[in-house]
Amino acid sequence: MSNLSVTCPAVDRQQTFSDSVFPFVYFCDGSPSLEDARSWVAERREQLLAEATQHGAVLFRGFPVNTAEDFDGFISALELPNFPYQQSLSNAVRVNRTERVFTANEAPPEVNIFLHHEMAQTPIFPHYIMFFCEQPAETGGATPICRSDVLLERLAEQQPQFVADCLAKGLRYTNVMPSSNDPQSGMGRSWQSTLGVTTREAAEQRLAELGYQGEWIEGGCLRATTPVLPAIREVGEATGERRTFFNQLIAAFKGWRDTRNDPSKAICHGDGTPLERVAVEQACDLADELSFDVPWQRGDVALLDNFIAMHGRRTFSGTRKVLASLADAHRVG
Ligand SMILES: [Fe+2]
Repeated sequence: MSNLSVTCPAVDRQQTFSDSVFPFVYFCDGSPSLEDARSWVAERREQLLAEATQHGAVLFRGFPVNTAEDFDGFISALELPNFPYQQSLSNAVRVNRTERVFTANEAPPEVNIFLHHEMAQTPIFPHYIMFFCEQPAETGGATPICRSDVLLERLAEQQPQFVADCLAKGLRYTNVMPSSNDPQSGMGRSWQSTLGVTTREAAEQRLAELGYQGEWIEGGCLRATTPVLPAIREVGEATGERRTFFNQLIAAFKGWRDTRNDPSKAICHGDGTPLERVAVEQACDLADELSFDVPWQRGDVALLDNFIAMHGRRTFSGTRKVLASLADAHRVG
């Protein structure tokens, strides 16, 4: 057994729910080797994953993780199948640092990335997302996280009809992809990179396979509309019956804005009807109230169950290097 000195301290502004805290924190004391830390993770991998599901997020602080390679090694000990960025339909521009690890989003510091479940606006999404702080920003740059099950519960109390509509009708998302990567946008990934193709014919074929509708528009851009995707997800029996607001509604409504995209056209119900503005604004406000800002310190690692917790990015100044890794791809249905 690995011999690490690890405690589970309470942290400032940590949230408490009936059977969980948010986020759950492991603090490592002393100066173990990365190998020891890897053994510690491997020995309790099932427990750590169960904690990620129960609490939504697990923060590891003080562990010997200093580089992208260390982070890769640390999370590899969880033995989860990697979900490579190249295979994802994410619309963020990212740069790989190791096979498993990439920059979280290349969007400029003044761009606010609103709360979302990773890739819930596509039919293929990861069960887990992991972050590593290589360098905290000078100011700002926290990663807000939000318990989506709690959000849904509160929203259902305030807007029962809206939640019923979300459940019954699902959601469709529309976005415009540029013909080459646009690093000035939080959603600037080119259609070639997003779809893993080089020609328009191949793009059309890939869209058809995925059930998308596509339209070529000015500037060589592609406007793509997803098939109907669920807005609410039932999460496994292990922790009791839970439903989460597993979608991209908040980010699409508040944030899908760049030179090509207009948030008012980004999202509708599965039957094409518009979303009720007041209800959407209430969802956004509730999510803000429920957010916990991960106050990054160099070397921090966070493990999120993407089916339970949303994440985003606050604006910042200075250089901020937060890396990410995705694991365990699921397909809709
Ligand atoms: Fe994300």
